[in-house]
This record gives sequence, structure tokens and C-alpha cells, in this order.
Amino acid sequence: MKKLKTAIIGCGAISKTHLDAIKKCHVAELVYATDTDINKAMKAASAYGCSFHADYRRIIADPDIDVMHICTPHYLHSSMAIEAMRNKKHVLIEKPMATSVDDAKQMISVSKETGMKLGVCFQNRYNTLSAKIKEILASGKLGKLKGAKAFVTWHRDSEYYKSSDWKGSWEKEGGGLLINQAIHTLDLLQWFIGEIHSLKGSYSSTLLDDIIEVEDTANAVIRFKNGVNAIFFATNCYVENSPVYIELLLSNGVIRLGSNLTVQYNNGKQETYCEKNSNTGEKSYWGDSHSRLIQDFYNSIVNSYDFPIDGEQGIIALKMVKAIYESSDTGSWVEL
Ligand SMILES: NC(=O)c1ccc[n+]([C@@H]2O[C@H](COP(=O)([O-])OP(=O)(O)OC[C@H]3O[C@@H](n4cnc5c(N)ncnc54)[C@H](O)[C@@H]3O)[C@@H](O)[C@H]2O)c1
Repeated sequence: MKKLKTAIIGCGAISKTHLDAIKKCHVAELVYATDTDINKAMKAASAYGCSFHADYRRIIADPDIDVMHICTPHYLHSSMAIEAMRNKKHVLIEKPMATSVDDAKQMISVSKETGMKLGVCFQNRYNTLSAKIKEILASGKLGKLKGAKAFVTWHRDSEYYKSSDWKGSWEKEGGGLLINQAIHTLDLLQWFIGEIHSLKGSYSSTLLDDIIEVEDTANAVIRFKNGVNAIFFATNCYVENSPVYIELLLSNGVIRLGSNLTVQYNNGKQETYCEKNSNTGEKSYWGDSHSRLIQDFYNSIVNSYDFPIDGEQGIIALKMVKAIYESSDTGSWVEL
């Protein structure tokens, strides 16, 4: 079978995860690694056996390239994705898909207009435990959803921000904890629970306030259209990266997601599930889910089906992030 020719833009921290997944994917062939930092592009090219370039525009202009992985700083996402789709490339983009909802909407329009796929990396939907939760909710065996809570307590220190020329800035990162880290959990919450009506929240900069201009801590109450309310708290100021905690309270029991998943039925029965993770690398806690998502993206191109996390799906968590910023600034509920 003819393989899809692939290029990656941005050879920084997340790129290895993409490059490893591309290598494992039988229908993808890596052709270019691109980075303005030519040493990073060269290093990726030598490790993964492809060509390299410093100027992504040269790659976008190459008619032989079918797929572009965009792994660059947030403020570059929308313009790069739009340019790539207009040049007939399918785009798999890291989260957040853009730094503004308007830019994200434009990306969705261009994807529709050009027929090019736009996939967003919310890989936690591909965790086996996330899929199990969806399955349990869909089965109806736990009854009606009554409420939810989600806590993200992670650690990002001054080193993390000082070593980056874009993280910690409103202009280039588009925010902090919410748009970069907690966006994954906001995405999972809405994926589990359903459409959002409105939210009220706030953000602040606490332990990192002399290092970054963006937030390191945030909270919100999220009202869903099905009547469920979720409470949400996130911070980058904890001493370590704890497992994200999500609890879903239903009429017949409780679902608790932490490092494991437990399902506690009101009749006393309890089930426990563990994540299946064959990733043994340095960041093994990131799991295999990126690789599953990337394989699904390529399969969706080859087998012509809709990729599940397209622009319309990717924009929802971005809207939630932006709504928390707006709510905090105005002190009001914000409708989505
Ligand atoms: N899904 C996840 O769990 C996850 C985890 C980490 C990072 N990310 C996302 O991945 C993206 C990249 O994050 P990172 O931590 O790898 O950042 P990084 O700063 O380590 O890497 C970004 C790279 O982009 C390069 N770059 C900048 N401008 C460029 C341009 N014009 N053309 C080509 N290359 C350019 C930089 O030189 C750098 O090597 C972000 O969107 C981030 O949110 C996602």
C-alpha cells in the first residue's frame, strides 16, 4: 500500500511522542522534520531517518507531503494549520488548536472548504480508562448522572518556564495552566458529560507570579445542558504531577478516576480497572494514547471515516478555557 508522506513542524518536547507514533504507524512515512532551530530539526531527522529543514513553508509547498503534524508554540498553530490545509495537507495539531475561538473557527471553515482533515491531540480520550468510563456511562447501568468534580494538581516550576521563549506569556502561550495543562481535563469532562450551558470561574497567579504573566491556578463551576453541575479545580503549584482526579456521581453509584478507575455501586459491589500502558520511556506517565490517536488519524484518512476529535470537537475545551478567563475578568456567568 502507498504510504502517506508526513512532515512534523516543531521538534521540541512533544515531538518525540509524535515521531515514535509515526514510526510505528504502517501507513505513514516520515519525510521531513522542521524546526526554526536547525539543530533540533537535524537531530530529529538523524534519529528518525528523514530530511530536515528550518523553514516549514518550504515543506508546506511540497505537493508530495500528505500530512503535517503541528507541534509548535500555541500562537503559531492556527496560521500554520490554515496554510497547510490550503496546500492540501491533512493536519494533526497539538492542543490547544488555537489561542482564540475565532482562529479555531476559521480553521474549521478551512478544513470544510478544502476537504482536508483537521485532528486535535486530546489523546486522553484514547486512554483505556477514559474509554471504559464512556462505555459505563453509555450502558446506563449506573443510572442518571447527578454531578461531577475534577481536580488537576500538577507541578510546573520556574525552570520549566525560564527554559522556554513562549510558555508563560499571554501573547505566545495564550494563557497558562488552563490552556496548556488543564485543557485536557476540561475536554474529558465535556466528553463524559455532554453539552455545556454556561460556567463561572476564576484564575490567578500564585506561586509562579514573579515568573509568568499567565495563571498557575484556576477553578470553575460548569453547568451542563442536561442539568448536571461539575466543579473543577486546577493548579500547577503542587509539589508533583499527581494523577488527574475525576469523579462522576450517578444515581446507582460513583465512578472515580485517579491512577486507577474504580466503580462503586450503591449495592456494595466495586470494580477496579487499570490503565493498559506499554510505554516504558522517560515520560511513561504520558502513556500510549498519543500513539493510538495518531494511528486512528491515519486510519481515518486511509479508510475515509471521520476522525473523532476534529476541529468541532477540539474547539469545545478551548471555549471552556476562554470562558473561564472571561468569567474571571467580568465576574459573570459565561454562556458557551
Ligand atoms: N498533548 C500533550 O499531552 C502535550 C504535551 C506537551 C506539549 N504539547 C503541545 O505541543 C506543542 C509544543 O509544545 P512543546 O512542549 O513541545 O514546546 P517546545 O517549545 O519544546 O517545542 C516547540 C518547538 O517549535 C519550534 N518552533 C517555533 N517556531 C517555529 C516555526 N516558525 N517553525 C518551525 N518550528 C518552530 C521551536 O524551535 C521548538 O523546538 C504545544 O502546543 C503544547 O501545548 C502537548
